[in-house]
Amino acid sequence: MNIAVFVSGNGTNLQALIDAEKKGALDAGKIVLVVSNNPKAVALKRAHKAGITAFVLTEQGFASRKAYDRKIITRLKEQNVELIVLAGFMRILSGYFIEEYKGRILNIHPALLPSFKGRDGIKDAFEYGVKKTGVTVHFVEKEPDTGPIILQESVDITEADTLESLEKKIHAAEHKLYPEAVRIFVQARLKVQGRKVRILT
Ligand code: GRF
Repeated sequence: MNIAVFVSGNGTNLQALIDAEKKGALDAGKIVLVVSNNPKAVALKRAHKAGITAFVLTEQGFASRKAYDRKIITRLKEQNVELIVLAGFMRILSGYFIEEYKGRILNIHPALLPSFKGRDGIKDAFEYGVKKTGVTVHFVEKEPDTGPIILQESVDITEADTLESLEKKIHAAEHKLYPEAVRIFVQARLKVQGRKVRILT
């Protein structure tokens, strides 16, 4: 199954997926394309090093979000992409894009949804003072951070934690959970029933 990973920044989740694929841990999943809206994303270096084609498309010159997304879709179709994995992609996809790949777009969020939605999930949880936060992999729907939940893993916040140490723990949990979710998707073991996602054994 051909996979495209969408990035904007550091790409540590992309790296975890690349490493998992190398070890055979994505089953029949193959990352064929990395899409970035940011030409300076460190993630692009990771793609290059792994020999994966990158498609960089900045928003400039596009009249609408839909026009931008349409261009990406053309590229995804050229490469027969069947699964979109958002890994720190700092753009909200249009409804048009989401319809086109309905049920085939995954995202990872650095908190236990539905708590701490938005861009600063780690910091917001830390500042709120919760004792447990974590990581969520979910399907993408039009409203950000709301789609049916595939996997979650909790992370404890102790009194010794700083924002930096919490970030480290969250990222470590992400790097384990995301490849696992992708593998389960590739194996066609996810069954969505309303808000609930069943994992077939
Ligand atoms: C991750 O924390 C992810 O949960 C969030 O964006 C961050 C991306 O990090 N959506 P990286 O670019 O994969 O290192």
